[in-house]
Amino acid sequence: MKHSLDHLFGRNSRWLAIRSEVRHFGLWLALFLPVNGPAFLHAQAQGAATLFEKKCYSCHNIGSGNKKGPDLKGVTAQRSREWLHSFIQSPAAMNRRGDPAAVDLFRKFSPEVMPDQALSPEEMDSLMALIESLSNKNQIFIPAGAKLSRPIAAGDAEAGRRLFTGKTLLSRGGTACITCHDLDGAGLFGGGTLGPSLTAANIKYRDPELIAILQNPNFPTMNSIFVARPLTDEEIVQIFSLLQSTKQANPTAAVAPGPVDLKFPLLGFGLLVLSLAGMNRAWKGRLRGVREALVGENSPRAGSLDRSQP
Ligand code: HEC
Ligand code: HEC
Repeated sequence: MKHSLDHLFGRNSRWLAIRSEVRHFGLWLALFLPVNGPAFLHAQAQGAATLFEKKCYSCHNIGSGNKKGPDLKGVTAQRSREWLHSFIQSPAAMNRRGDPAAVDLFRKFSPEVMPDQALSPEEMDSLMALIESLSNKNQIFIPAGAKLSRPIAAGDAEAGRRLFTGKTLLSRGGTACITCHDLDGAGLFGGGTLGPSLTAANIKYRDPELIAILQNPNFPTMNSIFVARPLTDEEIVQIFSLLQSTKQANPTAAVAPGPVDLKFPLLGFGLLVLSLAGMNRAWKGRLRGVREALVGENSPRAGSLDRSQP
């Protein structure tokens, strides 16, 4: 037990600091720790990994690069605990308040926006301890649950295609992927454009990452449907197999550009207006012909963004 504790946190002052902070959150914990602390913390660390996988991993890696959001490796050394707690609870509020670090992050990862996370302070601390421990050990986060329930077999990709296009209904009532996503060869008229094309999904995401997304798509738009109607293990095998075989058929497919979401058509339109206004000012009196061409090019796009509104 002692071993697992050291393994997790190292015998350093950081760990002592965490423990003293954790104590802040409840006398019961302070009473509990001296007797049962190591066992408790070990269980908590496993809980943290599950929590991270469920709530954060669809957008964040620890140690293997930026995804939708920044790689969280080392973030606990960079930012204070108070900052992390307020940010994770409500990133948009921090951005609105003009917190310089939050404003920077929002600028860098736009149009992606991190949704508010309803976590208890204990859950938050356990996530921070997980990030800190992996960062210190220079290890990456590998999701435990992100495995297929069985090996892929012949016919899975085809079954996945029927699920994707809605020819077979998703058994728990989820909406067919094609409503919002395009996929190479998915249908005569292609798929919806609310979400990104998934032709390169298995290029953009490594296998366990993609499986984790199918198990738990923690994106606002998909969450609203799939939290209550998750894919079954079988459906995950079949759809994964489809996405994998699509990658094999399109090994050089371009990774889908930035994400799309219901609020982004509006945001995009706002940015377009702003950038046109900016161009107008910057180019006043010169390059008139170029400007007109650009405005002409951009206008139909504004129109198509509008049409994607529900
Ligand atoms: C839907 C995608 C998404 C999910 C889910 C998500 N995040 Fe984020 N996160 C982002 C984005 C994008 C940013 C950059 C700021 C912005 O644009 O909102 C970010 C920024 C952060 C930052 C600031 C990083 C830095 O460099 O300071 C932390 C910390 C963070 N997220 C933690 C979490 C944790 C913990 C969870 C799970 C409880 C989580 N996030 C879930 C997308 C997400
Ligand atoms: C109601 C619309 C909707 C449906 C239905 C839907 N998705 Fe999505 N999906 C989205 C949106 C929007 C995004 C982008 C989310 C974001 O970036 O915040 C997304 C993102 C994804 C991503 C990540 C793509 C990337 O490039 O980052 C994958 C993978 C994915 N969806 C798979 C699926 C699969 C498989 C299905 C069917 C089982 C499905 N989705 C059904 C709307 C939908």
